[in-house]
This record gives sequence, C-alpha cells and structure tokens, in this order.
Amino acid sequence: MPTHHSNILITGGAGFIGSHVVRLFVHNFPESQIINLDKLTYAGNLANVADLEGKPNYLFVQADICDAQTLDALFERWKPTAVVHLAAESHVDRSIHEPNVFLQTNIIGTTQLMNVCLKHWGENLSNKLFYHISTDEVYGSLGPEGYFREETPYAPQSPYSASKAAADHLVRAFGNTYGLPFIISNCSNNYGPYQFPEKLIPLCINNLVHRRPLPVYGKGENIRDWLYVEDHAEAILTIFQHGRLGHTYLIGGRNEWRNIDLVRRLCQIYDTINPFGHRDSEKLITFVKDRPGHDLRYAIDPTKIEQELGWKPRTTMDDGLRRTIQWYLDNQKWLQGVVSCAYRDYYRQMYEER
Ligand code: NAD
Ligand code: TYD
Repeated sequence: MPTHHSNILITGGAGFIGSHVVRLFVHNFPESQIINLDKLTYAGNLANVADLEGKPNYLFVQADICDAQTLDALFERWKPTAVVHLAAESHVDRSIHEPNVFLQTNIIGTTQLMNVCLKHWGENLSNKLFYHISTDEVYGSLGPEGYFREETPYAPQSPYSASKAAADHLVRAFGNTYGLPFIISNCSNNYGPYQFPEKLIPLCINNLVHRRPLPVYGKGENIRDWLYVEDHAEAILTIFQHGRLGHTYLIGGRNEWRNIDLVRRLCQIYDTINPFGHRDSEKLITFVKDRPGHDLRYAIDPTKIEQELGWKPRTTMDDGLRRTIQWYLDNQKWLQGVVSCAYRDYYRQMYEER
C-alpha cells in the first residue's frame, strides 16, 4: 500500500520535466496539496504550469533551494512529508562555460533541502520520502557496447554530471548517516513539450521553423537514449508510489539514436507535417565544432524498473517526435517568450562565436 502524503513538495516544477511531474501529481493526488517550489531561473517558466493555476490542491512558491531560511519557513507552514526534487541546473554546455552555479544549486541546494527535511522530520522518519531525480550522465560515457545498470560505478565527465553525481552521493550519505528515507532515479535524455530550446531537439525545431542551420556537434556520431517526457513523469509517479526506500532505479526507453540520425529523422517528420510549406529540411544540417569532453554514448538497461515496478514507456520515437514538433508549432507564443534577449546572447556565444 503506498503511503498517503497530505503535502508533497516538488522542486523545479516550473522547468521542463518538473512541469509534467507537477501536472501528473496534481491530477493523481487530489487529496494532497502539491507545492511547486521553483526559483524561476532562465529555465523556469510559470507558463509551463499555467493550466494548474487555481486548482485547489496546487500551490506555487518562488524560492531558491539554497535559501535555508525560506525552506525552513515553508516546512514550518506546510509540513510536507514527501519531497520530489527536480530543481537543478541542467544543461551540459552551460556547465562548461559557468560551472559554479551548477555546484551551488545541484550540490549545496540539494544538501540544504535534505538538512531542512531532517530538521523538520526529526526522529519520525517513517512515512517520509526524499525522492531525488537524477541523470544517467553520472555514469560517464560508454563505448559502442554495454549499458548503464544500477550498480555501474559513477564516472561523471562534465561539470553538470559531476555536480549531479555529487548530489546523488550526498543523498546516499544522508541515508546512511542520518537515516534519511530516500529513493534516487537516473533517467536518460528526455524530449517533449516545454523543453527549453537550448537542448538538441527543441533547439533544432526552433531553427527548423526559422530556417536556420541545425548545429550538429562533431560528426554527429554521439549516441543518446531518448525518452518522451510524459513517460519519464509516469515512471517518477510509479517509483514515488511503489519504489523501495534506499533503492536506485534507472529509467530509459531502450531507444538509442546517433545524433545525426535523430536530427535527420526530426527533419523528415517536420517535412511530413510541412508547416509553412517548408521542405528539404535536411539541407539545414550543419556540422559544428564539437563540445569539449563530449560523452560518446549513454544507454540504459531498464530491466529493474520494468520487472520490479512494471513500468514501460508508452510513446514510440516517431510518435513522440511528431507530438513534440506539433506542440512547438502550436505554441509559437511560448517559444517566442523564452527566446528572449538572454537566449539570443546565449545562442551567439555558444554557436556563432564557436
Ligand atoms: P530544467 O532546466 O528545464 O528545469 C530546472 C528547474 O529548476 C527550472 O524551473 C529552474 O527554475 C529550477 N531551478 C534551478 N535552480 C534552482 C534553485 N536554485 N532553486 C529552485 N529552483 C531552481 O531541467 P529539466 O530538464 O526539467 O530537469 C529536471 C531534473 O531532471 C534535473 O534534476 C535534471 O538533472 C534531471 N534530468 C534531466 C534530464 C533531461 O533530459 N532533461 C534527464 C535526466 C534527468
Ligand atoms: P543535449 O540535448 O544538450 O543533452 P545531453 O548533452 O545532456 O545529452 O545534447 C544531446 C546530444 O546532442 C549531445 O550528444 C550533444 C548534441 N548536440 C548537438 O549536436 N548540437 C546541439 O546544438 C546541442 C544542444 C546538442
């Protein structure tokens, strides 16, 4: 029997994955108050959760997870018994240019959050849960063979993945040292609606619409294992309800693509939809300077979550890409809203001065 939590705190719920998780939790737990805490960095956007405003079991709080005093006041007021922690700096390229903010939010922020949980939960740790959302990138880079499994040793290689690995280690250390009841899940690359157009798929869709070059790093031979974001949100819900305390679950779609093949497929599906009469989109593909220390391949063996919890992704890649392209086409206002001056500066720095 899953534990009932009256108040559930979700961090990073105005971001890409967090917004899907908050939506799912608000709908699935009508008897619980869902508190969405988010700093609203460049990646956080209240438009991502606009449909939830006014729902009786939903509340938004703008705060920084590094701010212990505000977290303390929030726990005092709302007494959450479960935390689903997604707030993070999440983009590898940014971490290469500016690592410090990744250490601050991903390591210090996660630690502050756990400190506050322990302070407020005290000795009474039964029926409590700290669920930490992490990435498969903590395991480093695979060669052409093999898969990440729950027992694979950590070998992070970018400032982003190193900061997430440090956070994962601290969560386990707090479990071991203070008895913090935790679960960790590490997921592969997500794509879908509301993803900020700095990541490969939404960046390419935005460039397709504006007929700008589609920048493929190096030779496009790097491989990622892709999962539609709603499938990830469902995996998180399943783990939240049925996962075992102290356990790690790897989440992936058995869906590996070389970047170049993925971008080609995206172009083909875009041309089939044929927005604005656009065609021959593959001509926009442009090979650009590689990312420093670019991990070659990520691939997940999701046997544990499949067998133990019965989770499987529902969305095929073609269907997911079609839905994603269509969502961005239908939500040009959202896209224009996030492609602000700051995004233009980012794009210039990352791509035009590369
Ligand atoms: P995102 O960048 O879209 O969203 C992150 C959210 O966290 C934003 O709303 C931002 O405002 C908020 N945030 C950042 N710093 C904060 C702070 N100091 N205090 C409070 N809020 C803060 O990220 P995402 O892609 O939705 O990823 C969510 C989580 O899932 C992250 O922990 C990430 O490491 C993990 N993850 C992401 C992927 C992926 O493919 N995107 C895959 C596996 C795991
Ligand atoms: P990204 O979406 O940044 O996710 P991650 O680095 O966390 O896997 O990138 C996915 C892959 O696409 C990665 O191998 C880097 C590559 N890539 C490009 O080729 N061009 C781009 O403009 C971006 C953003 C990524």
